[in-house]
Amino acid sequence: MISACMIVQDEEECLKRALDSIYDYVDEIIIIDGGSVDKTREIAVSYDKVKLFDIPFPKNFATQKNNAIEKASGDWILFLDADEYYDSYTMAALSGLVTIEEYDAYAFSRKTFIDGRLINLFDQDYQTRFFRSHCRYEANEIGISEKIVGYTNLQSCNLDIKHYKKEQWQQKDNELYWDMGHQPPAGWSKIDGKWTYTQSLDDIQSFEGWMSEPELKWLHDTAKKVPAGELIVEIGAWMGRSSAAIYLGASGKNPVITIDTWQGSPDEPEHNIAQTEDIFAKYCENIKSVGITLAEFESFPLENKCYYLVGDSLEAVERFLDKSVAWLFYDGRHTTTGENLDAWMPKMKDDGLLTGHDYFCFYEHIQQEIHKRFWIHEIHNSIWVKYMKNERLW
Ligand SMILES: C[S@@+](CC[C@H](N)C(=O)[O-])C[C@H]1O[C@@H](n2cnc3c(N)ncnc32)[C@H](O)[C@@H]1O
Repeated sequence: MISACMIVQDEEECLKRALDSIYDYVDEIIIIDGGSVDKTREIAVSYDKVKLFDIPFPKNFATQKNNAIEKASGDWILFLDADEYYDSYTMAALSGLVTIEEYDAYAFSRKTFIDGRLINLFDQDYQTRFFRSHCRYEANEIGISEKIVGYTNLQSCNLDIKHYKKEQWQQKDNELYWDMGHQPPAGWSKIDGKWTYTQSLDDIQSFEGWMSEPELKWLHDTAKKVPAGELIVEIGAWMGRSSAAIYLGASGKNPVITIDTWQGSPDEPEHNIAQTEDIFAKYCENIKSVGITLAEFESFPLENKCYYLVGDSLEAVERFLDKSVAWLFYDGRHTTTGENLDAWMPKMKDDGLLTGHDYFCFYEHIQQEIHKRFWIHEIHNSIWVKYMKNERLW
């Protein structure tokens, strides 16, 4: 007899997928709920083979998993997490595995996908998930990770566990681990019972680039003011100094797209290092170091996330709808400022904010190109600002 075992808490988004994948191949399904407040329990009891037990999460995964094994009546246990599922070929193999006298535990190969992307293409990740019922879990010192013990002969199999997560579920898992004592990455702290990202702009100061400290602060504060859900576009990222200030200011309330060739401007000698150094890699590394997750821009609509778009700004502009950009910050190729303004101005929302860098610099034509087209309203160090409606709206 095979008992499937699971421990769950607020898994309404994925529980059905997990249960459907195993249902026809096991004799009973033991589910220990740690205190769900969503529809997890309702979904669980809608399956005849499920035996649901409520045991508040003891902040130790091994203890809770052993609670499930204790309730099981099968002589073989199949474990799975709610954000995983098994393929039918894996499940069909179980009835054969139990007949092999030699082994009392089997490990399967886990493939982890985040938002559909396989993230362990090269790393093997074997997880012991099918074992005789005398085996138990043993915790590490803070109860976050656990391993199975008590078997005598373990065999690794070429059978798959599909571990299919969404980025947002990962954050939920992270917060649970941090609550259990795992050290959160720099910048995260618990304020009024809620995990909050409180990275300061100081961390950006070490990124190579051209933005002065007050300019970084202005970019950050401006990003904060852009109404939630509205599109922010930055052109010219280099190693991410200005991008990081904007991303942090928007802090997940807006889609932000940063556009750059990451090849440097051909007419600016200080960009020559792009011929030998991988500027894009440096940009990714810097952005990641302040806790920001990047996604590649593919198409609209967008989520409120940080995106990068590798390409020429005068080609990228074709992909944007007219009147779709709430805030544009231009710090791209200086010798094409005029062409870029002409191409991007129709993309600005009527109440949008058009801004750029290097108002005061040795490329004098920047001021000329701007003033040929419009009056500016504010200057912050070397950042020029134009309100599209000629008045400040946000
Ligand atoms: C002055 S740097 C940007 C500096 C950055 N904002 C900072 O805070 O350090 C100008 C950037 O424009 C990019 N660039 C040059 N030509 C471009 C083009 N045609 N399209 C998009 N980006 C371009 C360069 O690769 C370079 O990263």
